[in-house]
Amino acid sequence: MKSLMMQGTQILSTGSSVPDSSLSNDQISQIVETSDKWIVTRTGIKKRRLLTGSRKSVIDLAVVAALKALDKISMSALEIDLIILATSSPNDLFGSASQVQAQIKAFNAVAFDLTAACSGFVLAMVTASQFLQSGSYRTILVIGADVLSKWTNWSDRSTCILFGDGAGAMILQSCLKEFNQVLGFQLNTNGNHWNHLCLSYEEKINPHPILNVYQGSFKYISMNGKEVYKFAVSQVPLSILKCLHDLNITINDIDWLLLHQANERILTAVANKLSINANKIIVNLNNYGNTSAASIPLALDEALDQKQISNDDIIVISGFGAGLTWGTVIIQWKC
Ligand code: COA
Repeated sequence: MKSLMMQGTQILSTGSSVPDSSLSNDQISQIVETSDKWIVTRTGIKKRRLLTGSRKSVIDLAVVAALKALDKISMSALEIDLIILATSSPNDLFGSASQVQAQIKAFNAVAFDLTAACSGFVLAMVTASQFLQSGSYRTILVIGADVLSKWTNWSDRSTCILFGDGAGAMILQSCLKEFNQVLGFQLNTNGNHWNHLCLSYEEKINPHPILNVYQGSFKYISMNGKEVYKFAVSQVPLSILKCLHDLNITINDIDWLLLHQANERILTAVANKLSINANKIIVNLNNYGNTSAASIPLALDEALDQKQISNDDIIVISGFGAGLTWGTVIIQWKC
């Protein structure tokens, strides 16, 4: 039932999942002309996980991540009112969230996909918190999951070294305002530069002979690495500063900087620009590469498992990527 009272958002649990199959830089150097040294120096990435085998999809990873998050708090999937699946590599262009809903048996939940590439998890978290704070829903499962290995051109050395597959989940619930953990957010899009990073629909040369309809298919990720790098390093700090300013939080108050795990150099450059100490950066991209919408919840789940994060810690989370879209959400952790 809807409540008209504005409420807070509590984070109850996280979970994550990566495929078993690992691909090292040395193995990539047997496919394209590159080297472990080049990849580590330019990106910090040492290996990534790939979803191998037939009939495996983003849904398999999303389901495992979701079940782990539910299991940690012994919650029945029937308690979930809404599932938001942030993914840009769905198994069905009409949406994959409904298949996740069915497989985890969350039969009371509405489910939809949200497409925003590497900013997807931040946008999904913010969307969820709006539904919770307005009183529309009580319990929401947010999943960030991508299998970009299916959309990578494995003969393009400038992109195939970057990406990996994975999924991360978070369960959020409405709560009294004084227990609110999602403190604020700041979101942006600049569609003028969509072509710096895209996975575009490509038409066939000839239309249908009678209908003049041009059909086609999606092909591979295409990227202008230098422009994406410059965009991230210039815009992400601004988004963080605006969000901090609106919340009256200072740089010194930040305990953790959790950026989309694209490239270690980007993480370091953003932290340097903000004068945030390097030991406050959460980083796990060395092992997983850029897992797109999965990277933030995957890194958060690992940091929590490793007991890095303490009660009341302020975590600044920023996503950025294709669109171009970028944004920040600031949370306060409660154990
Ligand atoms: N191995 C070896 N050499 C490579 C290579 C690879 N995998 N990829 C590119 N090169 C070569 C280029 O061909 C170029 O050679 P040239 O000078 O003879 O022309 C040289 O290395 C430099 O390429 P460049 O693209 O200028 O490298 P860079 O320093 O910009 O690094 C990225 C490339 C992709 C690592 C970097 O631009 C980057 O990280 N960008 C951000 C990408 C990103 O994070 N995208 C996702 C955001 S969500």
